[in-house]
Amino acid sequence: MGGRDATMVLLDENGIRCDGRKIDEPRRIMIRAGGLKNADGSAYIEFGDNKILVGVFGPRDVHPKHMSNTDTGILRVRYHMEPFSVGERKNPAPSRREIEISKVIKEALEPAVMLEKFPRTAVDVFIEVLQADGGTRCAALSAASVALADAGIPMRDMVAAIASGKVADTIILDVNNEEDQAGQADMPVGYMPNLKKITLLQLDGVLTSEEYKKCVTVGVEGCKLVYEIQKQALNDKYFGKKGD
Ligand code: CDP
Repeated sequence: MGGRDATMVLLDENGIRCDGRKIDEPRRIMIRAGGLKNADGSAYIEFGDNKILVGVFGPRDVHPKHMSNTDTGILRVRYHMEPFSVGERKNPAPSRREIEISKVIKEALEPAVMLEKFPRTAVDVFIEVLQADGGTRCAALSAASVALADAGIPMRDMVAAIASGKVADTIILDVNNEEDQAGQADMPVGYMPNLKKITLLQLDGVLTSEEYKKCVTVGVEGCKLVYEIQKQALNDKYFGKKGD
């Protein structure tokens, strides 16, 4: 999340954003379930120019053993950006930002996964960001939900995620990289549409309480759009397209 550049035109006089979208229009979203033969479940997402691969392993034995819980399974999430995923080479060592995003994705997924069915085991979620363009945590969370479902892990619901935000004093859906850098606010939202529960809500920037409510509503509505694409990805793999 970078500095705010007030000189950039983020919304023109016709209400069109810097990448040609309308204020409530998400970027192009493509999700594919499966694809990694050595993983128990996997998914690939393209969310605008974000490209992210997720592999799920487990439920499996926990090593070291003292990390296991006799009452429930545990979820472990590693979000990692490839050095080539951003314009300026990223150091491959885990950054503070990657540790934070791993934690928020884990906490956003936990309410969806029936870990209590697998005491003493772990479910590992590995997220590889191949190309980043603003909104990777939301894209990764949406793909991770599909990968967990693809692994056959019992779930209460899938978490769908997208960011709402504020540019040029206007609430928008799906914040891109330029809008994140130069806009006024960015609010990543993760939501389980069947259970009607928010599991991720972050805010970078300043909003009035009215704008805050609108951002949450716009984000939740956006999550419902993402959810349809997640379900379609699973349908395509298990009931639709041949060859997967
Ligand atoms: O990706 P997300 O919006 O969830 O997280 P962020 O911390 O707000 O990062 C916004 C964007 O900054 C990322 O999506 C990348 O495109 C970019 N970024 C970068 O260029 N170099 C980094 N080392 C980290 C992020």
